[in-house]
Amino acid sequence: MSEAKANAAKEALRFIEDGVVLGIGSGTTVEIFLELLGEKIRNEGLNVYGIPTSYQSHIAAIKSGVRVVDLFQYPEPDVCVDGADQIDYNFNCLKGGGAALMREKIVISASKKVIIIADETKYSSKLDKAIPIEVLPFAYACVVNRLYKIAKKVELRIAEKKLGPVITDNGNFIVDCLMEIDDVENLERDLNAIPGVVENGLFPSKLIDFVVLGNENGAKVLQK
Ligand code: 5RP
Repeated sequence: MSEAKANAAKEALRFIEDGVVLGIGSGTTVEIFLELLGEKIRNEGLNVYGIPTSYQSHIAAIKSGVRVVDLFQYPEPDVCVDGADQIDYNFNCLKGGGAALMREKIVISASKKVIIIADETKYSSKLDKAIPIEVLPFAYACVVNRLYKIAKKVELRIAEKKLGPVITDNGNFIVDCLMEIDDVENLERDLNAIPGVVENGLFPSKLIDFVVLGNENGAKVLQK
């Protein structure tokens, strides 16, 4: 599996040029991408300016020699490279397995070009996994009451190696919500309209330009 992720990550390096302002997603595939990018930066003497979407990718970016900057300085990154938990054939994505969905959606939406890297097992005819929903703790019970009316399963994400719920980098809870996903754009909008919902893990295809799918033998780049 990690060979497949590494092949997708390696292929995405072709989008990185000297001086690029890079939106940096989160997750294990992005972490591999940053390791490989570090080698490229060292070998070719590149300057890469990066805007990370989580503490995880912030730390990994610094290790790789990326010059970490922010959206104040660069509100429109040139390219964003991010992972996904599921990708449908139209490029709609489900994200948030690492609870970084809110900053990921901000940076993806702001970027000129968006590249999703993943192992090919994530590519599927339909999005059918639980949707991670970031919720303001103050509104938790009210949001969950609303979600129960439309979902098959609603689950507060519990932390590992810490008691209690996962707390996102923004200080919020994550609720994983299993429901029928038909119209991605409308569902994304309807979920975000619930007061107390901060963001959700549906990333409509209009946000995505390229999908790079890796397997044990290599990777292929899909373009809309
Ligand atoms: C984090 C994400 C990740 O991009 C997604 O979970 C994929 O992670 P991985 O590359 O570890 O499979 O959305 O919030």
